[in-house]
Amino acid sequence: MSILRITGGRRLEGTLRVHGAKNSVLPIMAASILARGETIIHNCPDLADVNAAIKILRHLGCSVDKSNDRVIINSAQMTRSDIPHELMKEMRSSVIFLGAILARCGTAALSMPGGCELGPRPVDLHMMALREMGAKITDEGGSILCAANELLGCRINFPIPSVGATENAMLAATACQGTTIITNAACEPEIWDIQRYLRTIGVKVTGAGTSTIIVEGGEISANTEHHVIPDRIVAATYLSCAAASSGKIEITNVIPRHITTVTNALSEMGCRLKIYEDAIGIDATGKLTAIKPVITRPYPGFPTDAQPPLMAASLKASGTTVFIESIFENRYRHIGELLRMGADIKTEGKVAMVTGVSKLFGVPVESTDLRGGAALCVAALGAEGITDVSGLHHIDRGYDGFEAALAAIGADIVRVD
Ligand code: UD1
Repeated sequence: MSILRITGGRRLEGTLRVHGAKNSVLPIMAASILARGETIIHNCPDLADVNAAIKILRHLGCSVDKSNDRVIINSAQMTRSDIPHELMKEMRSSVIFLGAILARCGTAALSMPGGCELGPRPVDLHMMALREMGAKITDEGGSILCAANELLGCRINFPIPSVGATENAMLAATACQGTTIITNAACEPEIWDIQRYLRTIGVKVTGAGTSTIIVEGGEISANTEHHVIPDRIVAATYLSCAAASSGKIEITNVIPRHITTVTNALSEMGCRLKIYEDAIGIDATGKLTAIKPVITRPYPGFPTDAQPPLMAASLKASGTTVFIESIFENRYRHIGELLRMGADIKTEGKVAMVTGVSKLFGVPVESTDLRGGAALCVAALGAEGITDVSGLHHIDRGYDGFEAALAAIGADIVRVD
């Protein structure tokens, strides 16, 4: 079992580059089966979840080559329309293959993704969208069987915006006869990135990034290349690392407008930020203070994925900061470990109240989920002594070269087997 051994108290200084977005590349890899040809994806991060998606594509009969930050997928010869449980369970977001396989093959068989560390994770809205298009779906014995003689363009009005359900609806809509109008769609930047990809393979799609997305169905056969957008949550994590360590760093390869809520929160906390076209400078050498309540919301609200790292950055800010988590039930599982490091946090349901302490202490801690694990590392950078972070399989799902990136800007962090 590997751990990250972090000796806190080193001030981070320097420049680091943010890698491509996990939550863009995964649905784009699923969408690549619609191309019926070659897709070259650039700026692809090296992550456990990307490797899980590659296994699924190969199982489906696609060829996949990965080297450095480039993945080449050829989906011309797809031979299967099922994903077995062993592959599904490696990554919950594999459910995004459902809409793409259905669109390509007219049928799809997946095992149910089930809950995860963050809570129950239902897929009812994904099903609702596909049923509206005319798909017949059964979900028995832990399997989803989905089939349609023909898919018809329709109007899909989501009761709440769901990133995954919006993506599944967009991908399935490419095979519908006629026009599909998706309302109350999720507006996350990753959905805009999928639209950019779909357009390169000839799909007529507009509106991504707003709450109404319009997709025209039609024949697709294309070879294409796509550059994945930068990972805004990784960017938010590195800015939080700087804040926790009283550091002064610059992050490059970012789209600053994608994390305005995070940079605003850090400014309010007392960090000095410089926003450039594709870089952000942060100077956190001054005193940090509590900020007004941080409420997680669908984009353009404060991202739920950035809540744990920002909370970790606020542990020593003077005063009390209130966090309200409104997206996922179990998004406070890192708090137990932060308490063991000396944090002062009171929770009640969706609310967590963080009162700044003067010191945090290194202790052995265990990651409970991806962003919670990152939060423990953020806290460890600002703690006295050594923090051993275990449960790295969570962190490796979403951060490419995490310890190397932080070590390069002065962190004392090593992976120990
Ligand atoms: C995606 C992101 C995840 C992020 C989340 C919210 C990927 C791979 N993952 O997850 O990192 O934290 O968006 O920004 O892109 N819901 C339902 N029924 C459904 C689907 C969702 O009730 O069928 C609920 C969920 O329980 C949750 C809310 O909708 O409360 C939002 O979830 P959703 O946007 O679907 O998240 P994911 O796509 O799973």
